[in-house]
Amino acid sequence: MEPIVDLDFIDNRTPEQAAAAANSCDTKVTEETNTGKSRKLYIESYGCQMNFSDSEIVSSIMFDQGFDTTSDIEQADLVFLNTCSIREKAEQTVRNRLGQINYYKKKKPEMMVGILGCMAERLKKSLLEEEKIVDLVVGPDAYRDLPNLVNHVDGGQKAVNVLLSREETYADINPIRLNSNGVSAFISIMRGCDNMCSFCVVPFTRGRERSRDAHSIVREAEALVAQGYKEVTLLGQNVDSYKWASEDGSENVNFAQLLEKVALVSPDLRVRFSTSHPKDITDEVLYTMKKYDNICKYIHLPAQSGNSRVLELMNRTYDRDWYINRVDAIRRILGEDCGISSDMIAGFCSETEEEHQDTLSLMDYVQYDYSYMFFYSERPGTLAARKLEDDVPLEVKKRRLQEIIDKQRETSHNRNKRDVGKVHKVLVENFSKKSDEFLSGRNDQNKVVIFPKKHYKKGDYVNVFVNDCSVGTLFGEAVD
Ligand code: SAH
Ligand code: SF4
Ligand code: F3S
Repeated sequence: MEPIVDLDFIDNRTPEQAAAAANSCDTKVTEETNTGKSRKLYIESYGCQMNFSDSEIVSSIMFDQGFDTTSDIEQADLVFLNTCSIREKAEQTVRNRLGQINYYKKKKPEMMVGILGCMAERLKKSLLEEEKIVDLVVGPDAYRDLPNLVNHVDGGQKAVNVLLSREETYADINPIRLNSNGVSAFISIMRGCDNMCSFCVVPFTRGRERSRDAHSIVREAEALVAQGYKEVTLLGQNVDSYKWASEDGSENVNFAQLLEKVALVSPDLRVRFSTSHPKDITDEVLYTMKKYDNICKYIHLPAQSGNSRVLELMNRTYDRDWYINRVDAIRRILGEDCGISSDMIAGFCSETEEEHQDTLSLMDYVQYDYSYMFFYSERPGTLAARKLEDDVPLEVKKRRLQEIIDKQRETSHNRNKRDVGKVHKVLVENFSKKSDEFLSGRNDQNKVVIFPKKHYKKGDYVNVFVNDCSVGTLFGEAVD
């Protein structure tokens, strides 16, 4: 993964890159299941890892309904776009993609097209009116209803279900792993978000926060280990507020305890998680990370801004000092080598030049390993859209964003230089993009490490002596 992704800022993109702009992941297209079912589903995911994980649930539901997955859109009877609303560009990407899909639909008029995910939830049935080729609009909590909705469309109607739920976690559904490297997998541990960051559309598109049954999470991790997986990433918008209680109240599990349960599944299973919220990350979580070697020493801790007034306007519920205190705790408990990354928003409503400088100085202080960086994009219906003026001119937003990117490149490089001359334990995920003679994996801190393959293969843990680095990658040699 290229650590510095600023796709909102780059305009000469391929459709795939543009899709990735929806957030910081690549758009993934389904792998084939090919079990001889009568119909075929093609699903494309945009946005955050939660969406990618949801697409695996959707594929499982549709598989039981007689749909194999296909990676060839022309073979598809049913096309799903699992969409993101986080920034305006994310939605525009999907609309452009619908234009392209129209071309396939003209060739094959019986092909059904469904919009799933956050855009479906935000725009509801108006999507049917705005985008004529869309047959189904299904929000993130309504996927169990997909078979029924698809039947409606089979019967010649359009179908919409955007009901949000307070309980749905899809805990009992066995995801079909899509585009998996067979080494690392995502496990959704919660859904929704109860924070109300003023810039953010997620609470509206994903509904209230709810935590998934801890036992079902552990069982999923055990099943993955049995299938040979070596790494799981526990997913939630704010994992630190994970809280699950058994029905009889005899069991209460917080995030630190869940982390421990998953770490105990196997010492050979690496455990990662995302996203940590600065207001909620506890020392207990940090001590649990320290206690288990297989919990990766890497924390994605989005700051959004380095200025307390802006943070207050963003309704992040922490200030600069609080954030710094959490970073100091990470360094104290887990050491200087613990990886830390961030998300940053440039040009939020009324942000002054000095306040922007505070973001840069926070980046200097923390020395992030990397960041995902965006300029502010007003989202309809959010607190900021209703109460604050989007008054920083686009050119200023872009310039500030560029300064943030330049700063991040500098700190990423600094942090990577510290890794040179040391041995890192790398979990091999794939061949390197450039050559099959090299393998690519990640170290504990989530950094990509490239090295000559020798006799090693995907899924191996390899000790690699790092001898060189770029802004985004470490390079080395395996030490036997
Ligand atoms: N739950 C995570 C964030 C999920 S959204 C958290 O609290 O950190 C991923 C990132 O998109 C956010 O961290 C933020 O940096 C960015 N983002 C969200 N809304 C945005 C908006 N309206 N404009 C620009 N960036 C935004
Ligand atoms: Fe959005 Fe804030 Fe929730 Fe993250 S914590 S999903 S930024 S509302
Ligand atoms: Fe986008 Fe929805 Fe995720 S808005 S970032 S896909 S939760």
